[in-house]
Amino acid sequence: MTVSPPSAETAGSPAGTAVPSAGTAVPSAGTAEPSDRIDVVDLYLKHIGSGRAVMGRVMGGMAEVRSEGAWIHADDGRRFLDFGGYGVFILGHRHPAVVEAVHRQIDTHPLASRVFLEPVAALAAQALAAHTPPGLDHVHFVNSGAEATEAALKLARAHGRTSLITTRGGFHGKTLGALSVTANATYQTPFQPLLPDVTQVAYDDPAGLEQALAVRRDRACVIIEPVQGEGGVRIPRPGYLSQVRALCRAYGALLVVDEIQTGMGRLGTWWGVDAEGVSPDVLLAGKGLSGGVVPVAAMAATAEAYAPFSRDPYLHTSTFGASPIACAAALATVRAMEDENTVARAAALGLRVLTAVRAVCAPYEGGLVCEVRGRGLLIGIEFAEDQAVGELLLELISRGVLVNHSLNSTRVLRLTPPAVVEDSELDLFLTTLAEALHSAAGRMAG
Ligand SMILES: Cc1ncc(COP(=O)(O)O)c(C=O)c1O
Repeated sequence: MTVSPPSAETAGSPAGTAVPSAGTAVPSAGTAEPSDRIDVVDLYLKHIGSGRAVMGRVMGGMAEVRSEGAWIHADDGRRFLDFGGYGVFILGHRHPAVVEAVHRQIDTHPLASRVFLEPVAALAAQALAAHTPPGLDHVHFVNSGAEATEAALKLARAHGRTSLITTRGGFHGKTLGALSVTANATYQTPFQPLLPDVTQVAYDDPAGLEQALAVRRDRACVIIEPVQGEGGVRIPRPGYLSQVRALCRAYGALLVVDEIQTGMGRLGTWWGVDAEGVSPDVLLAGKGLSGGVVPVAAMAATAEAYAPFSRDPYLHTSTFGASPIACAAALATVRAMEDENTVARAAALGLRVLTAVRAVCAPYEGGLVCEVRGRGLLIGIEFAEDQAVGELLLELISRGVLVNHSLNSTRVLRLTPPAVVEDSELDLFLTTLAEALHSAAGRMAG
């Protein structure tokens, strides 16, 4: 795979269609001249990892070099409609307002001395806190979702809540602490021993949670997703989150709600907990907070929960955490979501996508497809066989559409389109999905 970014004339090319690029190439390190073509697969093989290199080849051998809105452009001139992005791109790629804010920040003060106070961090915290559930006014910015989980687990420990309760199928990141509560043996086993005293309970099972809490009175921390994303878009029964809240109160447990995937409008509400009016002690945000531009995540907490971090600003720090550039992206993202009514758009578009995807999948239900489910713009297609997920992924890629598998569920294909998708893009997605299903079903039957 040799990289050359698409030229201006390829920008409007149809999905997955190869358009000859002008042949400009990615600049090599140390040169300003875009003259050297690079073999990305070879560099991955040599320097990043053979597994990722092989996967790149399986996915078609393209390298992605540019993005905008719902589209990703590859080095060979093709472009791909991005209905995946692991839930990051609620505002699409490179939302113009976020790009502009980040440019401005780069031109003025991208990274801080950490000696003085930083206005953009303060404003971003204020902007986010305006939308967090009541009482969650304190915000700690970090660089990734897993780091937000780490912050929450440390905060729980600072309160003596050392006994961690997570849910089967739950995903909270892959750093060592976060991995301890990510219920996936494939990722955990090579790194054992992880944090001690972690219990997994069934998701959507308040009775099981109560049993676990009853023997851990005043020393538990419960971490839970409002809808399990990586767990395969598992939506709990109405009332579950309220019951979890009540149980945590009754047994003196700290409640951490991980909204890294479900938050920032993804479910058609600012946060998944909004559907039940639940206010956790700690809420985690990430992914969409980036505005599709700069990696940033956050932990929001009540004053009481946050107290240890509030008292001692050096208790939990990171050099790049809450950097002005990341906070500028977060601030611009929240403002863009307010200005563009993103949450309401996600709710309305989500309903349309879910209904339409159900209609496209209907002929396969009871056979290849088991169920189509979703809330807002987090939609899962559950297949009868593991193999179908890979088949569909590749069928869709070959036709110019990107979606995701689910890390903790082998049979669920995940759709997380941006809220900025236009009618023509949705139509294109649905036509392509129908073709891909037809082709995959035919191949799997044969
Ligand atoms: C619910 C949830 N929590 C945590 C994470 C980890 O976030 P990151 O990959 O940014 O570390 C993810 C990532 O998919 C997630 O979906």
